[in-house]
Amino acid sequence: MTVPARIPPCDIVVFGGTGDLAVRKLLPALYLRDLDGQLTEDTRIIAVSRAGLDDVGYRVKISGDLGQFLPAGTRTAGAVESFVRRLHHVTLDVGLDVEEADAWRDLAVALPDPGRTRVFYLACAPSLFGPISSGLHRSGLVTARSRVVLEKPIGHDLASARRINDEVGTVFAEEQIFRIDHYLGKETVQNLLVLRFANALFEPLWHSGSIDHVQITVSESLGVGGRIGYYDGAGALRDMVQNHLLQLLCLVAMEPPAQVQPEAVRDEKLKVLQALRPLRGPEVACATVRGQYTAGLVGNCPVPGYTDELDGRHSDTETFAALKVEVQNWRWAGVPFYLRTGKRLDRHAAEIVVQLRGVPHSVFPEVDDVELVANRLVLRLQPDEGVHLRLVTKVPGPGGLRLREVPLSLSFAQAFADRLPDAYERLLGDVMRGNPTLFMRRDEIEAAWTWVEPILAAWAESDQPPRRYAAGTGGPAAATALIERDGRTWHEENQQ
Ligand code: BG6
Repeated sequence: MTVPARIPPCDIVVFGGTGDLAVRKLLPALYLRDLDGQLTEDTRIIAVSRAGLDDVGYRVKISGDLGQFLPAGTRTAGAVESFVRRLHHVTLDVGLDVEEADAWRDLAVALPDPGRTRVFYLACAPSLFGPISSGLHRSGLVTARSRVVLEKPIGHDLASARRINDEVGTVFAEEQIFRIDHYLGKETVQNLLVLRFANALFEPLWHSGSIDHVQITVSESLGVGGRIGYYDGAGALRDMVQNHLLQLLCLVAMEPPAQVQPEAVRDEKLKVLQALRPLRGPEVACATVRGQYTAGLVGNCPVPGYTDELDGRHSDTETFAALKVEVQNWRWAGVPFYLRTGKRLDRHAAEIVVQLRGVPHSVFPEVDDVELVANRLVLRLQPDEGVHLRLVTKVPGPGGLRLREVPLSLSFAQAFADRLPDAYERLLGDVMRGNPTLFMRRDEIEAAWTWVEPILAAWAESDQPPRRYAAGTGGPAAATALIERDGRTWHEENQQ
């Protein structure tokens, strides 16, 4: 096994240090990087929250919490003990104390060395991004070697995204701002770049001449749960499509960058976002479907409907979205990209399906057992990460020529025995090293909002409420119709 390179020493300051994201994702990710020996002895983690804890209290809390969120077999008492010694806690209510210089003094005391790299991770509500940035600035904590990490959502529309970007941008230079989209840190998503650009096989076929259409599906079986307060003001288009699904689309559709360098990659992704055909007014009804789950059965367990989770309050927030998207450029003209995502669906899976065109002419006689289906490349992002290429082959044996489609499959779990690291492990390491390739630049975020906003506006004006679908099913029937009216079908799990 290769030993991962050490990450230069850092002070990592996590705002929202007792919150869900920190406890469930960030601290486990840092623990796992520590376990692999990547963190230097003197790398420190300073949690900021309102919890009123001292260092010891915070360490005790995190030692307990880590057990719940670490992958099996990665927790050892010795490693936890050594990891929590890196932890410190500063009490600061950024919601209340943001204007009070005094309240920031403890944080300044916890960061005595201005020469070290500082990572300010804002794992809190986006409305606090600007105030925290200015608090850091007024307390003199922002140095040339500081970086700030912004969690999504960055705004809820273009204007609010711009406002947040402006506020943070008055304190940090664009190169210091790391806007996270955790999908870009997933191993299989990075593998998409490698698959496309490190193999000679695919790129000559990667255009409208050979590709019929592309499907991107992120399907979740979980509901909204405890996040309903945030989610009801967001919905699937803002929560998933504006960021994760559009970023996946960019990686599929982008031109090869001259090199995998931050600006080169981000320039190419931006061009894709700018080439998305705008959907406006009446077109929105034809090219999109929004849905909302009702009560149903997930894995034989009864689960409540979305509005039941809102105590019966009416809501038109979509928990499902399907869209037909076009990329208006030379490479992709006429190739639809079908996107869909939803909560409380029948499966938990994320995949990209590249459907190739059929052969131009069949040389095989027209008999019943000859099935000449077109090749399909399936990139499974989660679970069971892997790549499957469906090929037509001859069924062995006598009895006439019979053809059948079989997958040529690469399972990452089988090919690489190691545990696949969580996206946050990779992304936190990149922030500490100062590599922004997998982070979204301001212009990408704003281009994505520019495209999404007219869809949100058309939905808000529509008198057609979200289509209902029972929890535990594949989503609204209208989403099936969206693709079937083009003579195509959604790829389903049992088809590799
Ligand atoms: C988050 C969304 O960004 O991504 C959640 O806010 C969603 O609503 C989650 O559940 C899905 O991420 P993953 O990695 O579990 O597919």
